[in-house]
Amino acid sequence: MGFHTFPVERADDLEDITRFRFVSRGELVGHLGADPDATVADLGSGTGFYTDELAPFFGTVYAVDVQAAMGAYYRSKGLPGNVRPVTAAVESLPVPDGALDGAVSTMTFHEFATESTLTEVRRTLAPEARFVVADWSAAGTGERGPPTEERFGVSEARSLCEAADFDVQFAQTRPETFLLVAAPA
Ligand SMILES: C[S@@+](CC[C@H](N)C(=O)[O-])C[C@H]1O[C@@H](n2cnc3c(N)ncnc32)[C@H](O)[C@@H]1O
Repeated sequence: MGFHTFPVERADDLEDITRFRFVSRGELVGHLGADPDATVADLGSGTGFYTDELAPFFGTVYAVDVQAAMGAYYRSKGLPGNVRPVTAAVESLPVPDGALDGAVSTMTFHEFATESTLTEVRRTLAPEARFVVADWSAAGTGERGPPTEERFGVSEARSLCEAADFDVQFAQTRPETFLLVAAPA
């Protein structure tokens, strides 16, 4: 949808444990499938709030963010040993075809999702990989997160993923958010 990118000046707001009520570590890791040999990416990783939660369960985690200052924030916070920060846009990921065993994106899908960017995500995924998306839902109230008119509903998110040649395996609207799990078709 390409609405505004989350401002670095508000990065501290991302470091808020009450955010786990919108999506938990267990949901992300459970849908990805914990694997100490796997390489996964957190797309739009921000301060690494959720990347830190993934790190214990995977071999390597790329923390991908278009804003270099977000990577700097994460470094200053302290990186887990298996996290590699990458300054890059989801539109053009510096990752070979099929190199990722999974990808996650939390509260960022509305900032990057187009058929073209999702085709780029799909390119990087191995055949058995899962793409796990948690984001603010257009069906929410706007109590937290961006204005509702800047959000996707889960049906729109599903359609975008399918247009990019994903099979959507799970799609759920919850209070304020949706959770979607897709696999390369
Ligand atoms: C709302 S923050 C969420 C950060 C993190 N996922 C979390 O839940 O704490 C969105 C982040 O995505 C990044 N971002 C937005 N569009 C992006 C794009 N096209 N490619 C890579 N990163 C992007 C922003 O710089 C920002 O750090």
